[in-house]
Amino acid sequence: MTGATDRPGGELASGLLDPELWSTYPYPLLARLRAEAPMAWHRERGFWAVSRHADVLAIETDAATFCAGKGILVDEIGTTFEAPPTILHADPPLHTRYRRLVQPGFRPSVIRALEPAVRARARTLVERLPLGEAVDILTELAVPLPIQVIAEMLGVDEAEWGRIHEWSEAAIPGATDWPAERRQQLLGEMVTYLVTATAQRRAEPRSDVLSELALASLDGDQLSDTELAMFLVQLLVAGNETTRNLIAGGLVAFAEQPDQWERLTAQPDLVPIAVEEMLRWTSPVICFLRTATRDTEVGNQPVAEGEPLLMLFASANRDEEVFGPSAARFDIGRDPNPHLAFGFGNHFCLGAALARMEARLVLEELLARADRFEVAGPVERTGSSVIAGIRHAALRLHPA
Ligand code: HEM
Repeated sequence: MTGATDRPGGELASGLLDPELWSTYPYPLLARLRAEAPMAWHRERGFWAVSRHADVLAIETDAATFCAGKGILVDEIGTTFEAPPTILHADPPLHTRYRRLVQPGFRPSVIRALEPAVRARARTLVERLPLGEAVDILTELAVPLPIQVIAEMLGVDEAEWGRIHEWSEAAIPGATDWPAERRQQLLGEMVTYLVTATAQRRAEPRSDVLSELALASLDGDQLSDTELAMFLVQLLVAGNETTRNLIAGGLVAFAEQPDQWERLTAQPDLVPIAVEEMLRWTSPVICFLRTATRDTEVGNQPVAEGEPLLMLFASANRDEEVFGPSAARFDIGRDPNPHLAFGFGNHFCLGAALARMEARLVLEELLARADRFEVAGPVERTGSSVIAGIRHAALRLHPA
């Protein structure tokens, strides 16, 4: 085995967790990693940074060799979990059991049934956007829509919707600069609310996904209250921050490359393909971690049992080997587009269809309202190295 100091890419990888990198422009560093050290050892925190599409895919498709149970975030390296804190941390066979129990709540007919309500919410928000003046696309559209949609899907009382935003912000490392005590207090409130709501649904089911999940059972097997609360917390978080940044980041991309919006107005049937490009381009989840369960190799680099590997989706999605010379261009006609924004394999995003639908409906509603739009102020990004977050983005819309 190579010693930690002989391992490749240490200099390059050491910049990877710097908030400054993610709040500005990470792509030159990611491109250098892919070219010079596709498997780069992060000396300070002890993990492999995996930047090529093929290597990320190899890890994602081999859950036996690369487990999630020892942590999915760099901050979790070295932590031991008695039970998986989220479904994302579960490995087979437990993970398979979770998926079988929760998947029915996300089946295509459930998502399709939500479309009219989601469209109405998207339309109301888009119609309220002022034309001809700078508007913060986060506060007016990208933040409220996913919160409304996930809350509506679960059947959370409308009175709680404002709190969901705070709860979800509290759960994402680096999303805010709130003190740890405030975050803990909000997370506690969220769990209490969800546990109470679950008990209510078990007693008096309604026609919502919360009831469906509370009552889901398979061969007599049911999710326990703790498992369900854990899963619901994750849904509130996963369904919010990611979709928000997909919408905000995608619209910023269109504003910065107006020829692509022009193309979409001329060819609105490109909308679903454009959503895939928004996903590739924004990569709302920057990375997740796995741990090698045995000595192995990734991209010809020996990896020892117990070593963590950080799968950089944001880099894989710009890999020239897969996306060709136009990898660094926002091209809404890109097809095929095998991006990894939703991950791959057994943990593939459960909410992918919902997120795709939200982004599609936003584009469709905006096409009816805006002929073109432009950036009208600085785009402020968070420094999170997990979620590609945008705090503020002022755009100016011009009427269709
Ligand atoms: C643009 C929006 C979204 C993006 C980019 C995204 C991305 C991801 C990624 C990268 C994973 C991990 C996949 C892996 O490790 O291979 C994941 C898992 C997951 N996502 Fe999403 N997600 C989005 C929206 C949503 C929504 C709207 C929901 C729910 C309403 C959701 C629920 C989940 C759940 C439950 C998992 C865990 C699946 C498992 O571990 O089996 N996501 N997502």
